[in-house]
Amino acid sequence: MRQEEVSGWVNAARSAFATAKDLDSLKVARLAHAGDKSPIALASRGLGALSPEEKASFGKIIGEAKAEIAQALAQATQALEIERDRKVLLEEIVDVTLPVNRAHRGGLHPITIIKNEVSDFFIEQGFAVAEGPELESGWLNFDALNIPADHPARTMQDTFFIEPIESGMVLRTHTSPVQIRTMLTQQPPIYVVCPGRTFRADELDATHSPVFHQVEGLVIDKGITMAHLKGTLDNFARHMFGPDVTTRLRPSFFPFTEPSAEVDIFFNNRWIEWGGCGMVNPKVLATCGIDTDLYSGFAFGMGLERTLMVRHGITDMHDIVEGDLRFTRQFGVGI
Ligand code: DAH
Repeated sequence: MRQEEVSGWVNAARSAFATAKDLDSLKVARLAHAGDKSPIALASRGLGALSPEEKASFGKIIGEAKAEIAQALAQATQALEIERDRKVLLEEIVDVTLPVNRAHRGGLHPITIIKNEVSDFFIEQGFAVAEGPELESGWLNFDALNIPADHPARTMQDTFFIEPIESGMVLRTHTSPVQIRTMLTQQPPIYVVCPGRTFRADELDATHSPVFHQVEGLVIDKGITMAHLKGTLDNFARHMFGPDVTTRLRPSFFPFTEPSAEVDIFFNNRWIEWGGCGMVNPKVLATCGIDTDLYSGFAFGMGLERTLMVRHGITDMHDIVEGDLRFTRQFGVGI
């Protein structure tokens, strides 16, 4: 083994590393010139068989050669890594000045907005929000509310009955069954609002929809009178329609309230019927196991579509139902 031979290996390694065009070809060159089977490695392993003097002199030559090869390898690696990083940066370049492809975020439907608005208004005053199922038992939707079997509201024209008919299940025709559910499970004092979806077998036209929404209010406590009802409705109306709105109670009839009234609002220079209300019929309280000597209460219910239509001058129910974004956007909904 001669000095020149070792220098040859070093030069071969140097030029192989220097000409490698990327890290992959450098790896091949490294295995050939510095790997386990490279001439320099074999020579290094062969040192053990030499005499002590030869071992000393050749050991030095091989040691220096190895160091030179390692250095050349390190240099080539560094240069090629820099080159690779530069390429990656170029390939993955992002032009932050390009216009963004904005995804639609979606937004709340105006009915959802007004429903939240009503709930928030009552929550601020200490009411709880109660909910019930849309598929309801006929007993809760009608009987417990003192609506007898021959009441017109129960006829096939108004109510969606669920098959099998013997199940006695209906799509709730109003949110009033949530009153019953609340009184059956809670002791007075009760202060709740119950917003939700309701169903009636109506054709969709400018003022009707088979699927619509109501909000129900129920208060049961000691000494509750119609004055509390009137005050609550006045505040509610002002919140929904502005400070100048006036309300009026007009005698009416509902089986579940006694006395009963329609609540009208004076809005945009005319009286408009807004909803129904009254003092909870003691029969209904008794059905729910509430002591009528101790407690009395009031209830009210209004349509959310109607409230929205009156407030915003919407003349066609189709606009609320059909989900046309040109309508929805007018309510400040960012989509
Ligand atoms: N449930 C009635 C309806 O759907 C509305 C209503 C009237 C609710 C009077 C009430 C009430 O709570 O007291 O037409």
